Amino acid sequence: MDAQMLQEVAERRKALMNMMGHGAMAIVPAAEQLLRNRDTEFRYRQDSDFFYLSGFAEPESVLCLIPGRPEGEYVLFCRPRDREMEIWNGYRAGLAGAVECYGADQAFLVTELDERLPELMAQCDRLYYALGQRPLFDRRVIGWLNTLRSRSRSGARAPVELLMLEHYLHDLRLFKSPEELKRMRRAAAISVKAHERVMRYCRPGMYEYELEAELMHEFLRSGCQAPAYNSIVGGGERGCILHYVENRHQLQEGELVLVDAGAEFECYAADITRTFPVGRRFTGEQRALYEIVLQAQLEAIAGVLPDRHWNDPHDRAVKVITQGLLEVGLLSGTLDGLLEQQAYKPFFMHRTGHWLGMDVHDVGDYRVDQVWRVLEPGMVLTVEPGLYIAADAPVDARWRGIGIRIEDDVLVLRSGHEVLTQGAPKQIADIEALRQEGA
Ligand code: GLY
Ligand code: MN
Ligand code: MN
Repeated sequence: MDAQMLQEVAERRKALMNMMGHGAMAIVPAAEQLLRNRDTEFRYRQDSDFFYLSGFAEPESVLCLIPGRPEGEYVLFCRPRDREMEIWNGYRAGLAGAVECYGADQAFLVTELDERLPELMAQCDRLYYALGQRPLFDRRVIGWLNTLRSRSRSGARAPVELLMLEHYLHDLRLFKSPEELKRMRRAAAISVKAHERVMRYCRPGMYEYELEAELMHEFLRSGCQAPAYNSIVGGGERGCILHYVENRHQLQEGELVLVDAGAEFECYAADITRTFPVGRRFTGEQRALYEIVLQAQLEAIAGVLPDRHWNDPHDRAVKVITQGLLEVGLLSGTLDGLLEQQAYKPFFMHRTGHWLGMDVHDVGDYRVDQVWRVLEPGMVLTVEPGLYIAADAPVDARWRGIGIRIEDDVLVLRSGHEVLTQGAPKQIADIEALRQEGA
């Protein structure tokens, strides 16, 4: 971990500990290593909360924060150095590394948790822990609490309050620091290149997985370990399946293909969708619907401003989409009446965006005190309206089987916003130019 990041994770722990105050303890376990089949494991990805507070990527670790503890506020439990295991599976920081390279005040072996955790907990009245997220670890936490209770006759005390850690931690994660934005910009730039690559590469007759392979090529060669989520490559009517990840079908001339894919760079996500013709040009109907979605997206992005409500971009998108559907004859009535009835919903059934950060659907509340949250500088959200005319929709046949989504990642600035994924072409002329180029 570089010095800047080391300092920043220390500041994050400080900010959380300031919220917690003295007499409190937070416990955050690392992600579990999951078996894929027999003795093969899924590629390990650290838990986002754990990584946010530690920058430590190893499994079998537990982070404890105890503000004001004289022997040290930050205690990290981790695996020991082990020559044999390191020959087979790779390097470990060990106890010395946890202190020297990761800034822990104290480090203990993870095998000593059952012995040491109750002792640390006994010094605290309030326990901050995200109960319900990791059932196996929950049982251990309850076990440590019971250990302390059983020792009460000899004067031991157990925490008397349990607080949901995520409520405090996730509000911190919602506001991205310069170091986080550096990584988000990298993830965005790599994802832009990947989308450009498939836009050039696609030909009628190819299979959806061939496009997925091109995305992966760009992600991995740029230093990402994985996509931020399973890539969606849906040709024709499969573009109407919101989370289509099968990616097994052949792409046909005359169809659109919807590609929703983003890279994860050092635990930070990008999330981009582009929709383009499998052949060289959009058909008339595709063009008409694409223009509506693009207009809705641009309007929604224009609404990403500090002091606006979270829902403003969605309301703007819904208005443009309803107006557009009215103009092409897919809806009939008055604009106000159709908005009132939410008549767009059979064709646009999801919301216009979500928070983005370490997790693609990132943490943070969308409402505070029953009202939509106000956008503030440092927040990052996606803007992703779409139109999906199912193959069996009760509309004129020429519209059926068209699925379109356009998605960008937007950072709220003090004076406006920045579209992190601006580089990925989305104007029809630019897309068609790229499609000609590759042919
Ligand atoms: N790729 C998932 C989403 O756009 O929300
Ligand atoms: Mn998204
Ligand atoms: Mn997406």
